Amino acid sequence: MLEPAQCRRKTVWLGQADAAHRDELDQAGWDLLELDPQADIEGTLARSAATVGVIDLRGHDGQHLARLEALLAAHPEKRWVALVCTQALMHARVTALVRAGCFDYVTMPGASNRLVDALGHAWGMARLSEGHREEHADDAFEGMLGCSPPMHKLAARIAKFAPVDVPVLITGETGTGKEVAARALHRRSTRCEGPFVAINCGALPANLVQSELFGHERGAFTGAGARKIGRIEAADGGVVFLDEIGDLPLDAQTNLLRVLQEGTIERVGSCTSIHLDVRVIAATHVDLEKAVAEGRFREDLYYRLNVLRLPVPPLRDRGVDILRLARHFLDAFRRKHAAGTHVRDFGPEAEAAMCAFPWPGNVRELMNRVRRAAVVAEAPLISAADLDLAARPAAAPISVHASTLDRARAHAEREAIVACLRASRFNVSECARRLQVSRVTVYRLCKKYRVTLDTTTH
Ligand SMILES: Nc1ncnc2c1ncn2[C@@H]1O[C@H](COP(=O)(O)OP(=O)(O)O)[C@@H](O)[C@H]1O
Ligand SMILES: [Mg+2]
Repeated sequence: MLEPAQCRRKTVWLGQADAAHRDELDQAGWDLLELDPQADIEGTLARSAATVGVIDLRGHDGQHLARLEALLAAHPEKRWVALVCTQALMHARVTALVRAGCFDYVTMPGASNRLVDALGHAWGMARLSEGHREEHADDAFEGMLGCSPPMHKLAARIAKFAPVDVPVLITGETGTGKEVAARALHRRSTRCEGPFVAINCGALPANLVQSELFGHERGAFTGAGARKIGRIEAADGGVVFLDEIGDLPLDAQTNLLRVLQEGTIERVGSCTSIHLDVRVIAATHVDLEKAVAEGRFREDLYYRLNVLRLPVPPLRDRGVDILRLARHFLDAFRRKHAAGTHVRDFGPEAEAAMCAFPWPGNVRELMNRVRRAAVVAEAPLISAADLDLAARPAAAPISVHASTLDRARAHAEREAIVACLRASRFNVSECARRLQVSRVTVYRLCKKYRVTLDTTTH
């Protein structure tokens, strides 16, 4: 593999480069894409793989500056290096543009190589932040991404439960990753070389449940033209994962109990017991205790399944993991559909909205919203509206908890502080800047609403 320094790097140049700079950059290993800012270059800029760009601010004609301001605002994903001269630096509009939109600036005329150094630095920083994203992908435990305290606890439990060859009952809301957790248990267990057979009990056709699970002999019923091996038998030597176990009909529950008690099955239409060696992992998003109390679920089966219990936390309790997962799904989407999206990242208000949203559909919902946003977004940064989250965060909880206007206001204020702190990764200065209040105000409101600044509690 080539070392970074040996690769040719790419930069865009808004304007026309002079011959001296062109040569200097070429010699330093840069490929230059020169673009006339007054032309229609939006598409070219968005598609360009360059992570850095040069912007010539030596002329400061108002119309020209307005165009450059618009281009920089539309491409915050690139790190810009401005070329300025001393006169230009006396213009408030030029300095504002450099301050707000550029990574660095180089004053002309000046020492040679200054531009090469600044571009190299900008490119390095872009690479570091990409690396930072990839690092996040390593926060995964057997395919389960997350480093929040509840996810650490889950990973620790899986590591502890995996080698103990007894049933596990995984509980959690829909979309939290129960199947991901079951696969992690399988991979960490001594059965990792054996099969992992996942069965969604809710999706089995009612008249075929028994035959799907336990198999049938030829002629067992009309249409049974040949012997069929059931899904549980197919898991022999490995793990059978019974998803949505609460949906299993009562007669199938009785047969499943036999698998757990005696380690045997009987195919439909046969009286012969077959010995199996399977570990049963079951999952449910419904309250099985309630189903037992209401007579919909066998109590003896419940106790057999519930030997080790593994609760998977809802996404809203995972703090920083929300944004981490969102980036992971966006990066995966960009890798797969590079031509279909010009999106680079999430905008700050989209991050705040994601942190504040209660995510009833959990990780699955987050994944779907991110994918859809990556397709519909017009700008390089995904907005809250692209995620279809714009107006929601504060609205739902208020109506539930607040009975007076004052309480509603207080509730909304607290929500806004918590969401913004999360989006600012608990950096108080950053949070204050985003909310356009002083740091003292942020501290005061945190105290007032008992918001702790400890990242682990949110
Ligand atoms: N921690 C996680 N890291 C990465 N992807 C996850 C994680 N949790 C869930 N997913 C993804 O979210 C989707 C839903 O997960 P799944 O295990 O089917 O949820 P459940 O069975 O609880 O409804 C899947 O596409 C899964 O890959
Ligand atoms: Mg599932």
